[in-house]
This record gives sequence, structure tokens and C-alpha cells, in this order.
Amino acid sequence: MATSAQQIVTETGDAGALSHVAIIMDGNGRWATKHGKARAQGHRKGADAVREAIEGAVECGVQYLTLYAFSSENWNRPAEEVSDLMGLLKLYLQREIKTLHKQGIRLRIIGRRDRLSADIISMIDKAEEKTAANTRMTLVIALSYGSRDEIVAAMQKLAQAVAKGELSPEDINEARVSSALWTHDIPDPDLIIRTSGEQRLSNFLLWQAAYAEFSFPDILWPDFTKAEFKLAVEDFLGRNRRFGARP
Ligand code: IPE
Ligand code: IPE
Ligand code: MG
Repeated sequence: MATSAQQIVTETGDAGALSHVAIIMDGNGRWATKHGKARAQGHRKGADAVREAIEGAVECGVQYLTLYAFSSENWNRPAEEVSDLMGLLKLYLQREIKTLHKQGIRLRIIGRRDRLSADIISMIDKAEEKTAANTRMTLVIALSYGSRDEIVAAMQKLAQAVAKGELSPEDINEARVSSALWTHDIPDPDLIIRTSGEQRLSNFLLWQAAYAEFSFPDILWPDFTKAEFKLAVEDFLGRNRRFGARP
């Protein structure tokens, strides 16, 4: 009999082999078009779906949930849309931090902070500090995030260490590269979910996704529910991960 996400919670209190789920929250614009609304309304509805994903993750007992909220390439969208998205993010942080904290959730933001406005930087700094000791789940928000940006920054860090004589080139290995990334203290994702039907990474966790499983539910992000999250988890639990070894 297939193991259900709910069973995992009741039997073990955690999802065992499933420690980290990452989601590419895509399809807000198409949702808006489908409902004859402005894109901004699609993004607003998308922000509500975030709560569903968090509840699903908490109920399944996953330790890390990463949400791709804004990519480095999303800065190339029209200024009005970028400003709508940043406004929504501020609203989200103002509205949700207390609840996240009460639920025992630790917040981590990954991405290029220098491109964000001073008020958003200050809000995320405070939120990270406030929730730093929480242990129930870590919610990672990828914001102004690009995996290639992250890898370039890591290479620069390692090159500087070599230039200073602190590191020799032959000592650079996978572990050192991983620990130079913004995700240095976060395990690799086990499962990456992308909504909206697109089947690509769009510059998300390229290094970290080496052995991730993928799920592409045919649903637009604003319609995402915790039931949908659990379906993806159940499907994941039935898969055979081989990591290149013999089955
Ligand atoms: C995801 O929805 C939100 C962000 C990328 C910030 P989109 O805005 O990409 O929606 P579609 O892909 O145009 O439907
Ligand atoms: C990826 O979605 C980024 C986020 C969901 C934040 P996009 O809508 O930006 O990706 P592409 O352009 O379809 O690849
Ligand atoms: Mg999109």
C-alpha cells in the first residue's frame, strides 16, 4: 500500500527522507488573464497560496520549505509590476511574520540583497533575527535570487581565499563550493515543485538540484492548496531515488 503524506506525519512525526521541498511559484499572470483580472491581482492571490504551501509543509513534517518569490531576471519586468511585487512582499512580511514566529518557523532569505530597497532589507533582517531560534521548520524565501549569481559570488569568495593564501586550488571540492553558496546551511532540495505547467528551473538552485526529484502539477500558483502539496509529497514518497548507484 502506498504511504500517504498524512501517515508519515502520524507515524514518525517527520517526513524522513523528505527534508527539503522547494517550490517555483509560477502562473500568477496566467491566472489573472484566465479570470479577466489585472496581473497584480494574480500576484495578490498568489501571496495567499503561500499560506497553503506553508501549512502543507508543516503538516507533512518537512524541515525546509524554499519558495522562489522573485528571480534575478524578474527585475527585467515592467517597473510597475516589479513595484507591485515588492509592495506585496512588504505587505506579506508585515502581515505574516508574527504568525510564522508563533508557529515556530524560522525565516531565511536568499538572494542579492543589494538590489532590494532599504526598507525591505531592514524588514527581512528583523524577521530573520526574530525567528532565528525557531526549530519547527525553516522557510527559505528566494528573493532577487538567481542561481548563477549565487555561483559567481561563491567562486569569488573561493578565489579571494586562494589569492590570500588561505586556500589552495586543489583543496576546492564539492563541500567547499556548497559551503560558499548562500544555501550553505540548508540541505539540498529533495523535491522541487513547479506549478503552471512550465518544466524548467529558471535559474533556481542549479547546483543544489543535482539529485532533486521534480513535480509539475498542472495548476496555476494562485490555485495551489495544501492538498496539492500533499499529493506531490505522496508521489515523491513512491519514487526510487538512486543517486547514480545500482537500484
Ligand atoms: C509567478 O507568476 C510570479 C513571479 C514570477 C514573480 P508569473 O508572474 O510568472 O505568472 P505567469 O508565468 O506570467 O503566468
Ligand atoms: C520563475 O518564474 C521565477 C519565479 C517563480 C519567482 P518566471 O515566470 O520568471 O520564469 P520564466 O520566465 O517563465 O522562465
Ligand atoms: Mg511565470
